[in-house]
Amino acid sequence: MAQVNPIGIFDSGVGGLTVFAAIRELMPRESLVYLGDTARLPYGTKSRETVIRYALEDEAFLARHQVKAIVVACNTASAVALDTLREHSTVPVVGVVEPGANAAVAASRGRCIGVIGTTGTIASNAYTDVIKRLEPRATVIAQACPLFVSLVEEGWLTDEVTWKVAQRYLTPLREAGVDTLVLACTHYPLLKPLIAEVMGQGVALVDSAEAVAEELKRMLEDHSLQTTSAHAEHHLFVTDLPGAFTHVAARFLGHHLPPVERVDLETACVFPPR
Ligand code: DGL
Repeated sequence: MAQVNPIGIFDSGVGGLTVFAAIRELMPRESLVYLGDTARLPYGTKSRETVIRYALEDEAFLARHQVKAIVVACNTASAVALDTLREHSTVPVVGVVEPGANAAVAASRGRCIGVIGTTGTIASNAYTDVIKRLEPRATVIAQACPLFVSLVEEGWLTDEVTWKVAQRYLTPLREAGVDTLVLACTHYPLLKPLIAEVMGQGVALVDSAEAVAEELKRMLEDHSLQTTSAHAEHHLFVTDLPGAFTHVAARFLGHHLPPVERVDLETACVFPPR
C-alpha cells in the first residue's frame, strides 16, 4: 500500500470527527477519508451482531478508497467488532479502546478509574478488560451515559438539562473516588468542560480521540506508511442527511469542512453534494 494513500476513519455518525480532528491536528499532511453511518446511528444501543455487521460494511467502503490504514473512531464498534474487522482487512486497523485504556492507566495516580460510554460499549466490558490487563490492581467503575449522545447532537453542550443529566450519571463515580475518567464515546469530548466541572478538581479526563491519533502515528511509523505528499486532501461521506451532518460537523471541526457526500453502502453509489 502506497504512503500517499489516505487513512480511512469510520464512525456511526458525526461524533468520530473528534478523532478526525485529532488526527488532522497531529498529522496535517495525511489525507483522510471519513465515513459517518448516519443512516444507522446510533450503534451504541444496538446488539453486538448488528454493530459487527454494520462495521464490516463501513470497513468495506473504506477499502474501496484504497486506504492504507483504518481507524475505528466509534467506541462501540471498537469495543465489539475490532477483532472481526482486523480479520477481514488487508491493512492495519486501529481501534480506540486500547489507546484510551493505556492513557487512563498512565494518567491514574490512585488506580481508581471510571469509564463512561454507550450502553453497548459498557456492556462489552472492553475498556475494563484492557485496563485490568494493563494494571491488575486498578478498580474500574463503568457507567453507561446514553443520553449524552443525543444532548451533543442537539448542541446542548452547557445546557441546564445536560448539567442535570451529567449529575445523575456521574455523581456515583465522583463519590466512589475515581481519579481518572475515560470519555469512551466519540461525543463526550464535546462535554469535557461540563464533565470536568461535575467531577471536580483532581479528576483527569482521558479523551480517546487524542490517544488514538498518537497510536495511529506510531503505527504508521512502524510500518513506514507516513505520507510523502506535501498536502492533505480530505473526503467526508455519510449514509444519510449530509445537510444535517454538515451543520453538526461545524461544532466538531469548525467551519472549514470539505464537502459532505452521501453514499449508499449497498450499491457503493456516491451522490455528490448539491
Ligand atoms: N460513536 C458512538 C460511540 O463512540 C456514539 C454514537 C452511537 O451510539 O452511535 O460509541
